[in-house]
Amino acid sequence: MALLAPSILSADLSNLSQQIRLVELAGADWIHCDIMDGHFVPNLTFGPIIVKAARKVTQLPLDVHLMIEKPDKYLEDFVKSGANSITVHQEAVIHLDRTINRIKELGVKAGVAINPSTPVDFIKEIIEKLDLVLIMSVNPGFGGQLFIPNTINKIKELFELRKKKKSNLVIEVDGGIDNKIIQNVLDAGCDVFVAGSSIFKSDNISASTVELKNLIKGKDDKR
Ligand code: DX5
Ligand code: ZN
Repeated sequence: MALLAPSILSADLSNLSQQIRLVELAGADWIHCDIMDGHFVPNLTFGPIIVKAARKVTQLPLDVHLMIEKPDKYLEDFVKSGANSITVHQEAVIHLDRTINRIKELGVKAGVAINPSTPVDFIKEIIEKLDLVLIMSVNPGFGGQLFIPNTINKIKELFELRKKKKSNLVIEVDGGIDNKIIQNVLDAGCDVFVAGSSIFKSDNISASTVELKNLIKGKDDKR
């Protein structure tokens, strides 16, 4: 079954616990935390203290997406703050194999994210080690951007590569997910849908969560 991971990047952080409760009650599966450093991406967000605050108000898995340079320095802090999975960017890490090993040693799921211009093949040599691959469907840095259409080809490619390598990794797609594009992304092979503004910037957070959840149900029947 496909999962929904609302991104608190677009949430009202002055009311974080209420916002998380709303999506949790409406059926969210994971809570996606976007960490930005103003270097790897042009925007700044938050660090482990917000992840820790989120941990206090939900039992849902906290899916930490690090859009930062030198992520190794902070892995332990995020795990201590309650992260259940940590995803680093292929483009931001020099010794990716080492970083993945470290995330796994720390006892959480290890993921790699790839930017829109990064080929799926760039993670081929470490695919056996990965629990998750996050395909960026916008250029990372901001919520509310338009889904880049070529992402669909990349999801299909990763879906085939996963089959070939007999891997169980989760395919996550992040950026521009809304009620219009979601079916195409689902059909291409996505397992986890990150959605920020289509949930938290909508008029009704609960209703939008329920709507997206309903749209991704029944995936297994369709393939
Ligand atoms: C973008 C972040 C996304 C962002 C998605 O750099 O990684 O997780 O929250 O936001 P929407 O769904 O608004 O594109
Ligand atoms: Zn993200």
